Amino acid sequence: MMKQNPLVMIPGPTPVAEPIRQALAGPTYGHTYGPFVAIYKECLQGLKTIFQADHVVAVGGAGTLSMEMGLVNTVKAGESVLVITQGYFGERFVPLAKALGIVPDVLTAPAGERVPLADIEAKLKQNKYAAMTLTHVDTSTGVMGQVAEVAALAKKYDTLFILDGVCASAGVPEPMKELGIDVVITTSQKAFGTPPGLTIVAFNEKALARREQMGTVAGYYVDWKNWLPIMDNPSMYFSTPPVNLIQALAKSVQMILEEGLEARYARHERIARSFRAGLKAIGLELITADDAVAPTLSVIKYPEGLDDVAFRAKMEEYDIVVAGGVGPLKGKIFRVGHMGNICINELVLTLYAVERALTALGVKVAQGAAVGAAWAEWHKG
Ligand SMILES: Cc1ncc(COP(=O)(O)O)c(C=O)c1O
Repeated sequence: MMKQNPLVMIPGPTPVAEPIRQALAGPTYGHTYGPFVAIYKECLQGLKTIFQADHVVAVGGAGTLSMEMGLVNTVKAGESVLVITQGYFGERFVPLAKALGIVPDVLTAPAGERVPLADIEAKLKQNKYAAMTLTHVDTSTGVMGQVAEVAALAKKYDTLFILDGVCASAGVPEPMKELGIDVVITTSQKAFGTPPGLTIVAFNEKALARREQMGTVAGYYVDWKNWLPIMDNPSMYFSTPPVNLIQALAKSVQMILEEGLEARYARHERIARSFRAGLKAIGLELITADDAVAPTLSVIKYPEGLDDVAFRAKMEEYDIVVAGGVGPLKGKIFRVGHMGNICINELVLTLYAVERALTALGVKVAQGAAVGAAWAEWHKG
């Protein structure tokens, strides 16, 4: 029998829609060749629209490189950064800052919760920070940060605000001008629904002015000043861009703008609501506090005694890949991504496999209950 391609429902990389795959399979243009330059330009312009950004850098790399770009260009060695961490990925700013000689001061939330705004304000009152970081959606806990409120605090205390949008961008609004975000760092493989391999950083004039004041920075490839002339005119060379991935991202950006930002964000909310109606119908709960839950993924508690490895192996037997926990949540939860270009069909298949896997492992669930509830919720509109 022919083996099915498994449906990858982890929170990134997310399934790649056919038009994006086709774009990826386009010609490997010379990187300064006219038709490619036009695609790159349009892609960058579209990204500026999505983020309300003054400047965008989109180059080969990953999310972690964009985190590094965000810090390297705005904070000098010896300066302090306030790291607000609501999970494993928020925490990543700590070793990153240390590697750059930057001094991190850390506020950590219990798993599944947010750091209270009062704690953030108390820190900002007490100390002067060159910048503060917040993870918009922490992919380990499903916690969504309070972007507008934190941005307002950053403004009040004159601190540069760096937002990690890796598990949010293009699935949750990040209007930089409207909210007062100075830097968004992100990547291609989550709600952009494009294969992994791109570092995307959006920033405003204030962040660029900071970079100008710094003189030199502790990096070369990561230095915005080396990239900005190429982003303005991609027919020039600094370092070879991944031309096929840029074509794929350009298609994704085009699809996002055609869908419309409001419609896309509303679809993500509707998908999350439908998926969670399905989970609830079979008694599954999220680890994330109700007031902090993100629309891009669900982080789901295992029923008492259920073995993580056995459950995910069973799901794979049914050709659905879900993710396990990371950090302190390892073995206690599983994670399902529902962002990018997926629709109710993938959710229904996933919930069906969850019902079957639980049953196979001895957890009593009503067959069809999750699928039915998700379907009904989706069709409420
Ligand atoms: C919120 C968040 N930030 C940063 C990263 C790091 O991105 P990458 O794995 O592309 O380096 C991830 C990865 O999943 C993430 O979820």
